[in-house]
Amino acid sequence: MLRFLLLILLCLVCAIANSAAARVVTCSGLVPFRYRNDKISIRDFGGVGDGKTLNTKAFREAIYRIQHLKRRGGTLLYIPPGVYLTESFNLTSHMTLFLARGAVIKATKYTRNWPLIAPLPSYGRGRERPGGRYMSFIQGDGVQDVIITGDYGIVDGQGDVWWNMWRRRTLRFTRPNLVEFLNSMNIIISNVIFKNSPFWNIHPVYSSNIVIRHVTIWAPRDSPNTDGIDPDSSSNVCIEDSHISTGDDLVAVKSGWDEYGIAYGRPSIGITIRRVTGSSPFAGIAVGSEASGGVENVLAEHITLYDIGVGIHIKTNSGRGGFIRNITVSDVHIWNARKGIKISGDVGDHPDHKFNPNALPVVKDVTIRNVWGVKVLQAGLIQGLRGSPFTQICLSDINLQGISGPRTPPWKCSHVFGAAHRVSPWPCSELTSHRPGSCASYHTGLMGQKGADNWA
Ligand SMILES: *[C@@H]1O[C@H](CO)[C@@H](O)[C@H](O)[C@H]1NC(C)=O
Ligand SMILES: *[C@@H]1O[C@H](CO)[C@@H](O)[C@H](O)[C@H]1NC(C)=O
Repeated sequence: MLRFLLLILLCLVCAIANSAAARVVTCSGLVPFRYRNDKISIRDFGGVGDGKTLNTKAFREAIYRIQHLKRRGGTLLYIPPGVYLTESFNLTSHMTLFLARGAVIKATKYTRNWPLIAPLPSYGRGRERPGGRYMSFIQGDGVQDVIITGDYGIVDGQGDVWWNMWRRRTLRFTRPNLVEFLNSMNIIISNVIFKNSPFWNIHPVYSSNIVIRHVTIWAPRDSPNTDGIDPDSSSNVCIEDSHISTGDDLVAVKSGWDEYGIAYGRPSIGITIRRVTGSSPFAGIAVGSEASGGVENVLAEHITLYDIGVGIHIKTNSGRGGFIRNITVSDVHIWNARKGIKISGDVGDHPDHKFNPNALPVVKDVTIRNVWGVKVLQAGLIQGLRGSPFTQICLSDINLQGISGPRTPPWKCSHVFGAAHRVSPWPCSELTSHRPGSCASYHTGLMGQKGADNWA
């Protein structure tokens, strides 16, 4: 009898565990994971993993072979354990770059011959210097069906030479990203460690169907502009189960810069960020500030942040134009932050003097819920634009505790309309208090026409 009861109990536990497991949503399915029958090793092309030999030729020849010998189902390029120093290189379609455990692909510190490429049309110039920009360390331009994966091998950008040029103001052009995909689709980046990027770490731009999961991204806290992942004018990007600790925003969704981004008009749409943890002196989850092509349908959930500048930061500026709408951030844990939540219309610089100061961004329909923070210096700040107030800003179930006891400095708000429900400390009179579930009513239309008018 006892055994029978135990069995029932066990089944019950199993059923609960199973249903819990079934509820774990993942990116898989967005891009099919391809196994490659054709495999080559960097050693077949003269690669030497001694940390001293320059392997540029080996990488370029191996990838040339993949590109031109076009094996059915693509080719896997295996990087065995060892430290492979190289200059930047281009990936090609239908390939897997596989880094074994103990494999390191290391960028040369010799920056003088670093190739220059054209600026992105949606930026009009390099992000930090006028003119072109240095090619990313690993680049894919116009490629599809590319996988960067392995057994937690490392891509090391040796960024300190670049950070020092930035500090000494001796940079001639914009620093290279660690990995960039341009005009590409069906990309998977998983089970790899990225460290010491010269500039942004992973930058998908004008691309779609990108999965980034089980990655670790690390750069020192004082390294300049080492953003973790910046989906930029891209759609269907899914980032999950990753740890990111860098010197700048952990994830920042972008879409071009002022008049160039407006003219290019390519939004970022359908960005999912889930189960990401990390630390930075700047933002955890960010949208902007370059968002001139528009950003919509962003979902960030189950985010854990510690020692962070701003937990959630939606940032834009006059001159940016574009829109930021349908943004949902939920289930965020914050420990030790300067600010919990910031939505602001005065952030970031301009590419040149040709920007139109009357190009005002539209920020609407932002839902932030289930946020818990301790040691948060200031809970929140929402500063819309006088000529373009932020609307449908919906905050619920937010508890941000300060340093000494439950009270933190009050929220600051201006030019904002929206709702707040169960938010502590209480935000500001601009966000009217609503009955439970009122945030959802924006979407279900329960507010009715009158409600909609109120937020217009
Ligand atoms: C890499 O691709 C770019 C095009 O995006 C091209 O200009 C450059 O010459 C390529 N570099 C190498 C080394 O193949
Ligand atoms: C809002 O974005 C979510 C993704 O976060 C998407 O599922 C939903 O369809 C979008 N809503 C509208 C009205 O486009």
